[in-house]
Amino acid sequence: MKVVVLNGPNLNLLGTREPEVYGSVTLPDLERQISEWAGSLGVEAAFFQSNHEGELVEAIHDAAGSDGIVINPGALTHTSRALGDALHSVAAPAVEVHISNVKERESWRAISLVSPACVRTIYGRGIGGYRDAIRHLVNRAAVPSETLRYGPHPDNVGDLRLPAAGAAGLVALVHGGFWRHQYERDSTETLAVDLVGRGWATWNIEYRRLGRGGGWPGSGHDVKLALDFIRQLPEMGQLTLAAIGHSAGGHLALWATNKPSAGPIGLTVGLAAVTDLASLAGSGGAGSGEAKRLLSSGAPPVLEVPPHTLLVHGEDDELVPVLHSTRLADTARVEIFPGLGHFDLLDPAREHWSTVFAALENAEN
Ligand code: DQA
Repeated sequence: MKVVVLNGPNLNLLGTREPEVYGSVTLPDLERQISEWAGSLGVEAAFFQSNHEGELVEAIHDAAGSDGIVINPGALTHTSRALGDALHSVAAPAVEVHISNVKERESWRAISLVSPACVRTIYGRGIGGYRDAIRHLVNRAAVPSETLRYGPHPDNVGDLRLPAAGAAGLVALVHGGFWRHQYERDSTETLAVDLVGRGWATWNIEYRRLGRGGGWPGSGHDVKLALDFIRQLPEMGQLTLAAIGHSAGGHLALWATNKPSAGPIGLTVGLAAVTDLASLAGSGGAGSGEAKRLLSSGAPPVLEVPPHTLLVHGEDDELVPVLHSTRLADTARVEIFPGLGHFDLLDPAREHWSTVFAALENAEN
């Protein structure tokens, strides 16, 4: 695949420009880093930066035949109908990226004239957003998906992916990100694509998150609603349903599948799942503020787990300590993998994945 990465006005000043907002990496270093990320995903990346709207319009025209465009239009995001039109005019799918959290800054930054022409908008993840954008383009090209709405909120959607022949079962995937709105379901897409290749249908769920109508119990209820919705689709009702959640998504998946009102679930898998909000809240580290918010809205301080549960954790998890899984060893199957960190569990090429898949193959509703 060939992807063109476009950066707009003032991004040539990365490194010195408001480092407290945009970080300290310079544009040449960023482009080197993106090349490396792209290479590891089998993608060749080309780069262009300009402070001029017309030059960016022409760069979009030039990228028309590529496999995808990653564009950070800088402040032109908020003013340029011409960039939006240009992106609409070319066949190459585009992902919009913002380094900063544009939804939590001045109100005018929350407005994008470019988003409607893009297949996804990624913001507030630092420079890692460029890596996530390329990964999304790769996964999008690998397996097509159909986005279905399961509830009234714009985030009540999920992506259904189907294998070529009849499905062996259906896996609902619940992404993590400490319930924060800048983290979305693109993080679990690589697992979805792998599972479809192995003959399983996948339902990659979005849900309301903190700052976008979510929190407790809204986020949990959304996941339950999404599971109820998918099992009611005529083609899906007969299949074994499993749920896999990563990190905070593990928390939501375990909670949602442990309700007496939930239909039968063949297997719930927590990948580096948060199961102990009280200890996360007390840790003072990443996610502790969000855990406190959930607790103050009445979320259970510690989770119990449904009957068929597999908890998988990397011993080197830098964000959610293994204790979140090992504390449940009496009621769930717990598998700890030395040498794996928090995000390694989102990579189907890592060693934990064969354990997860073998458990899926043995699951029955
Ligand atoms: C930006 C956000 C824009 O609002 C701003 O004008 C930029 C950079 C970002 O990457 O966060 O120039 O796109």
